[in-house]
Amino acid sequence: MNKIIEVKNVNNERVSDIHFDMLEGSLTTIIGPSGAGKSSLLMLLNRLEDPDRGEILFKGKKLDEFPINKLRRNIGMVFQQAHLFNGTIEDNLKFGPLLEKKWNEKMGIQLLEKVQLPRDFLTKDVENLSGGEEQRVAFARTLANNPEVLLLDEVTSALDMRTVDWMEELLHTLVNEEGKTILMITHDLKQAKRLGSYTLFMNEGKIEEQGETKKLFQWPKSDALKHFLEG
Ligand SMILES: Nc1ncnc2c1ncn2[C@@H]1O[C@H](COP(=O)(O)OP(=O)(O)OP(=O)(O)O)[C@@H](O)[C@H]1O
Ligand SMILES: [Mg+2]
Repeated sequence: MNKIIEVKNVNNERVSDIHFDMLEGSLTTIIGPSGAGKSSLLMLLNRLEDPDRGEILFKGKKLDEFPINKLRRNIGMVFQQAHLFNGTIEDNLKFGPLLEKKWNEKMGIQLLEKVQLPRDFLTKDVENLSGGEEQRVAFARTLANNPEVLLLDEVTSALDMRTVDWMEELLHTLVNEEGKTILMITHDLKQAKRLGSYTLFMNEGKIEEQGETKKLFQWPKSDALKHFLEG
């Protein structure tokens, strides 16, 4: 498999010596205690932050060589909170595609199908959505740009169990059937183990340990990871 993302010795105020690769069509999970720098790392990957030192490559080219809007459509991000903007669900979904002048109602319906919302939701106001529905719309809004890489920051933390199950299934489909590459922060260790093929363990701004998910969970090397897994 090809390396789609390469992170080489990246440092900034909040993370240091970050070094890892992501293979195309794989799901990498990030675990670690609160304040470890997980979100800070994710933000470096679609240029919400920039490194002070080191470099990040997307398909072999440095991130800052891409026009920023194009980069952010290709490397999409979803947060724990949906952050929808006022208006209808369609207003939210079409925002990204319209920048490329690509939008029609059929796309909207397909996106809603993907996140299992009824098609009459297109014209619905976002004010009236439940938390789980908001998160589905936020996800659909990111998928509307057809990103190759998805950065997910605790997207299932605030969801009920049924919606979590559904979301995990969606992630599985995106990776295994559509070839998307996912980097996902989760506080749920079972989820990190269940979904990941590769895992980064962050501690105090560094990647303390990384490797194949099953091995990392089964044979942690550092005391910090052993301690963290024992909870
Ligand atoms: N906007 C900011 N300005 C200054 N410091 C920040 C900012 N955001 C985070 N930090 C600090 O950077 C460090 C890493 O924070 P980060 O949010 O990346 O951790 P995290 O691993 O995502 O934690 P959590 O699991 O709680 O989300 C913490 O010490 C935090 O206090
Ligand atoms: Mg965080």
